[in-house]
Amino acid sequence: MADWVTVAAVGEIATGSCKVADVDGVAIAVFNIGGEYFAIEDVCTHDGGELASGHIDGDQVVCPRHGARFCVRTGDALSAPAYEPTAKFPLRIEGGQIQVRDERWD
Ligand code: FES
Repeated sequence: MADWVTVAAVGEIATGSCKVADVDGVAIAVFNIGGEYFAIEDVCTHDGGELASGHIDGDQVVCPRHGARFCVRTGDALSAPAYEPTAKFPLRIEGGQIQVRDERWD
């Protein structure tokens, strides 16, 4: 069972922004959308763009390379040229810390 990993303190990620953390070698982008936090892999499924570098539009992030949109809440690809979702990770707030866990290989 993968451990929870602290990626930021609550308040460290401003609303409408994100932070990338290395969790066991995986780049995970943690977004603050209106005070709710979501964690998805910082990889566009079209051609590997770093989603955290893209524009955040509501609860969507726009890949900076070719403009595919992803839902920050679910990881779903919402527009071409990406068709596959990027990974979404469980997230919790514990003792004022934002924690995520990569349980894909458990
Ligand atoms: S790498 Fe993201 S849209 Fe092409």
